[in-house]
Amino acid sequence: MSVIIAPSILAADFGNLQRDCEMVNNSKSDWFHLDIMDGVFVPNISYGMPIINKINEVATKTLDVHLMIIDPERYIETFKNVGADILTVHYEACTHLHKTIQSIKSNGMKAGVALNPHTSVDLLKDVLNDLDLVLVMSVNPGFGGQSFIENTYEKVRNLRILREKSGSDFIIEIDGGVNITNAPKLIEAGADALVAGSFVFKSDNPTQTIEDLKNC
Ligand code: DX5
Ligand code: ZN
Repeated sequence: MSVIIAPSILAADFGNLQRDCEMVNNSKSDWFHLDIMDGVFVPNISYGMPIINKINEVATKTLDVHLMIIDPERYIETFKNVGADILTVHYEACTHLHKTIQSIKSNGMKAGVALNPHTSVDLLKDVLNDLDLVLVMSVNPGFGGQSFIENTYEKVRNLRILREKSGSDFIIEIDGGVNITNAPKLIEAGADALVAGSFVFKSDNPTQTIEDLKNC
């Protein structure tokens, strides 16, 4: 199976959001990646429900929603109602992670857990079989356009081993600083899905850039 490409709307032109969403619809990408930041868990605030609703109206592909907010269990049903297909919460933001994962699934969404760069994949061992996706942050969350952290390859390799040992089948997704240079190495290490914000939307031809990532 070829790699899943998820352009991050955080890097889109919000004055031309519909145009950029249609570009994603008409490209070789697989998902829309939506970054939700609360200014508490991360030092930035992104966008909320009215914008997600609008994206959902236009988008014809899976909405992959990445919550960078504290106590995300407060909003699980709300995110379902605005169109989330995959809902990913941060390991570092959940006191009762197992319960939060179950609640996402019982609300009819796929459940993901994101790990900050300092968080070991080993900490997920006891919930691996409950997960549909693990998102490995390859930058510190909060902003687009940061440099890729090289330790990510090792982390992805370790996660793939854990997946094999546990017999689970979650998707391994990488988020932050992804570009055409690190993408092939990430895929080789075990990545199934790549998020790309700046590399796609700041390029001269985003549609072609998505295709290049898809083919690498
Ligand atoms: C960072 C976000 C990312 C971000 C990726 O906190 O989770 O999804 O939009 O942007 P780039 O690809 O520019 O690093
Ligand atoms: Zn993200």
